[in-house]
Amino acid sequence: MRQWNLVCFFLIFVFSLQAEEVPPGAAIVSAHPMATRAGFEILEAGGNAFDAAVAVSAVLAVVEPYSSGLGGGGFWLLHRARDGHEVMIDGREIAPLAAHRDMYLDSKGKVVPGLSVDGPLAAGIPGEPAALAHIGKKYGRLPLSRSLAPAIRAALEGFPVTPHYQKMADFRLRALRASPAAARVFLLDNKVPPVGHVIRQPDLARTLEALARQGRKGFYQGAVAKRLVAQTRKAGGIWHSADLAGYKVIERKPVTGRYRGYRITSAAPPSSGGITLLTMLNVLEGFELDRLSVARRTHFIVEAMRRAYRDRAEYLGDPGFVTIPQTTLTSKAYAEQLRDSIDPDEATRSEDLKPVATSGSGFHTTHFSILDKQGNRVAATLSVNYPFGSGFMPEGTGVLLNDEMDDFSAKPGVPNVYGLIGAEANAIAPGKRMLSSMSPTFVESANRLAIIGTPGGSRIITMVLLGTLDVTAGQSALDIVMARRFHHQYLPDAIQFEKGAFDEDTLAELQLMGHRLNPLDGTYGNMQLVLWDKNKKRLTAATDPRGEGQAAVQ
Ligand code: GLY
Repeated sequence: MRQWNLVCFFLIFVFSLQAEEVPPGAAIVSAHPMATRAGFEILEAGGNAFDAAVAVSAVLAVVEPYSSGLGGGGFWLLHRARDGHEVMIDGREIAPLAAHRDMYLDSKGKVVPGLSVDGPLAAGIPGEPAALAHIGKKYGRLPLSRSLAPAIRAALEGFPVTPHYQKMADFRLRALRASPAAARVFLLDNKVPPVGHVIRQPDLARTLEALARQGRKGFYQGAVAKRLVAQTRKAGGIWHSADLAGYKVIERKPVTGRYRGYRITSAAPPSSGGITLLTMLNVLEGFELDRLSVARRTHFIVEAMRRAYRDRAEYLGDPGFVTIPQTTLTSKAYAEQLRDSIDPDEATRSEDLKPVATSGSGFHTTHFSILDKQGNRVAATLSVNYPFGSGFMPEGTGVLLNDEMDDFSAKPGVPNVYGLIGAEANAIAPGKRMLSSMSPTFVESANRLAIIGTPGGSRIITMVLLGTLDVTAGQSALDIVMARRFHHQYLPDAIQFEKGAFDEDTLAELQLMGHRLNPLDGTYGNMQLVLWDKNKKRLTAATDPRGEGQAAVQ
């Protein structure tokens, strides 16, 4: 009898492990067609979503050098179908050991413009190579040499310059020209190359090969590391070999919560994404958004954004250095307090909220989403911060360094390049991770699963919020990525919005409520979304029409 019970228990256990529904295919969406194709190449070679994520990340590092790279970092949100295990791989950059809180201030205590954005002093210690080695080894099925093969090929064979590349290179021309190695690779005769010109990166191919052969040691120790440190120091940087040797990937428990029957899984600190997203969703859960006029709906969403971004500025930073009141900030009770402070007819002035007791983000960045046939998923947002990062490439490495140090608060209360302010929680300290807005997210109910994310600096979290609301409202993947966007980040106290986001009547109504309006010249964001409608057994993927990405389902 006892034996029979044990058999039953074992069968139930095995069944429960396999109970997760299986999708009708695999889907990959990323910001570049070569990266999406690389992901499928790896799935076809017998890899799972995690091997594909390694391949997609590495190809993006080659073909989208203005967005992410081996010299940068990111967050990879993983879901393993076999046992439902969920984890956020934190491959965020860290401040070098020689960094200190006032390193970007002059003798009068003023922030020196550009110092945390251009050149080697702006670069944190990269996390992406260590994260790829970690994901491949712990969660993948294939050796790193196989998953990195498409990226090595892309670095050797090259990729063609597009109008978007030109725009980014033009924007960062001065920083790229200041680094001879970067200028040789990314410019032609020190100018922005013409469309179709092929960018080849043999040095980067060699660095990728070292990573493929030796795992993380290939980047953080040995010849590559030596070169990275020597060249960075020669150009005025402060890196030491101990910075690279000591870099650690951290596995973190994602931030989770519920919104109207949907489970939300998102990025944990040092990203501000998950907590800020949940604060906003919890506040909005108390309103019947679908029944309101566009103006009133926008008003409540903006007021939720304003309050959540205020808290972001005050409380969020690297959890290894500061205590974050995460339970409070993501609780329904706290959201109720915030909701009660919203006047249904009138905009709150940001200056009337409790002042931030005296944060930062990325302008470009990249996101991709993957679902494999077993149901394993990855949402990953990666960055070098500003387009082409710091613009600095240590000679002989092919690695373009990030300027993620600007995501720290160089001086409490002084806005960074994205107008975000920060406080003590995000002050610079040796070995500390800078606060991020990157928000790779899963949104799921019994019927729908969305794997969602986008670049866009301080606007990342509000884009993911609007996308999440659209997912829960039953919209299609294409409609969600195409939707016109708006954003409020507490300070500056204005609603920023894309052309076409609101009609004239709505704008007039918002103004009447006291909202300041800031229409933007261009568009923003590059959302990549996988959407599985379980009831309809339909799997779709959509790439943002604002970018040059590719979505595919097989
Ligand atoms: N640098 C982009 C971000 O972490 O938000």
